[in-house]
Amino acid sequence: MLAGKRIVLGVTGGIAAYKAVEVSRRLVDAGAHVSPVMTAGAEHFIGRTTLSALASEPVQTSLWDEANPIPHTVLGQSADLIVVAPATARLLAAYAAGLSTDLLTNVLLATRAPVVVCPAMHTEMWEHPAVQANVATLRSRGVHIVEPEEGRLAGGDVGAGRLASPERIVAAIEAVLSTTRDLANVHVVVSAGGTREPIDAVRVIANRSSGKQGYAIAAEAAARGAKVTLVSTAELPVPAGVALRAVETAAQMQAALTELAPGADVIIMAAAVADFRPVAPAAGKIKKDQGVPQIVLEPTPDILAALGKAKLAGQVLVGFAAETSDLLANAESKLRRKHLDLIVANDVSAPGVGFQHDTNAVTLVQPGGVVHVVALADKRSIAKAVLDTVVQIRGASPTPNSKRSLTK
Ligand code: C5P
Repeated sequence: MLAGKRIVLGVTGGIAAYKAVEVSRRLVDAGAHVSPVMTAGAEHFIGRTTLSALASEPVQTSLWDEANPIPHTVLGQSADLIVVAPATARLLAAYAAGLSTDLLTNVLLATRAPVVVCPAMHTEMWEHPAVQANVATLRSRGVHIVEPEEGRLAGGDVGAGRLASPERIVAAIEAVLSTTRDLANVHVVVSAGGTREPIDAVRVIANRSSGKQGYAIAAEAAARGAKVTLVSTAELPVPAGVALRAVETAAQMQAALTELAPGADVIIMAAAVADFRPVAPAAGKIKKDQGVPQIVLEPTPDILAALGKAKLAGQVLVGFAAETSDLLANAESKLRRKHLDLIVANDVSAPGVGFQHDTNAVTLVQPGGVVHVVALADKRSIAKAVLDTVVQIRGASPTPNSKRSLTK
């Protein structure tokens, strides 16, 4: 797993900096090429010579080197993975804010490689809301956080904040490297956001979906090597490497998805599609003095059910079920009715779950009653769990990805 991988090891100024030497030694022993980068703070705790001796090349500390004028882009672009161990509160804040003040923070911005951050600090600092907010921001961007452990800290204190053990850090690196490219060459189509159905020229029937869960899935799939097309009504920043098809109504969403479906290996329908729309939207603005309008509604097409009927062999179809009661029974019935391979059910009446929140808690239901509960977590972590299951389903499928034929 680690053999031949290029790993940048960032070391910041905490007492745990000495443990970075052991992390480096283990990575090198496993065949990785380790390029160490130390911050000015780290140099107060360990000597360059120690880390250079146990890495694959000499430590770099500066952006200003005449022999090597742009070290940050060279390191950032060539890395298979970047790990920061230990990461101080300052590093977390700078990275979350996108500040590039030294070599390490520049490298972190100049890369598309996965990043593993291992915080270590005193308990008060670790539990400070500013630090926790920065950790949440980094996590939501797909940064892998190896949580500190409880134990003895510098100065004789005991509590949460001790750097994870070198074994755990190396295991986290291996886990990230093993999932990183597991969707390479897979075309994933994701729908996101709530549809808007016009009543007249200025008014719409909308819903509370923000699109955040769909965007998190698109970002995670792209980070894992997929070719991603996002069919969306939401106006959120488009994740790196994702192609956007902007739509507004259920009809437009259906048209885009019908066109994309034959070329899709995985379709994830995270959008909240209106179930009803006005039959005849007014061309202009309905005037107040014309009295209370009678808005006649008609059902919208069930996009997912249609995709289920036309599903190709080997294609994986994932639906969402936002429920306020009977979560499992409703999810299982939709799974069957719409011919899905997986349904992601959430109880949107629970605190912190579903529409507009940055967090979600879901139950993943597969045919045959296979149920997997994912506890409240940021939407990127939920996206990881959904895609892990998709990868598993594809692995188990008898005709993955190639030689398609209509199943129905
Ligand atoms: O049956 P229900 O609408 O609750 O199912 C939810 C799932 O179906 C979601 O994945 C949603 O995107 C999809 N859906 C759809 N077209 C509709 C309504 C829902 O594709 N008209």
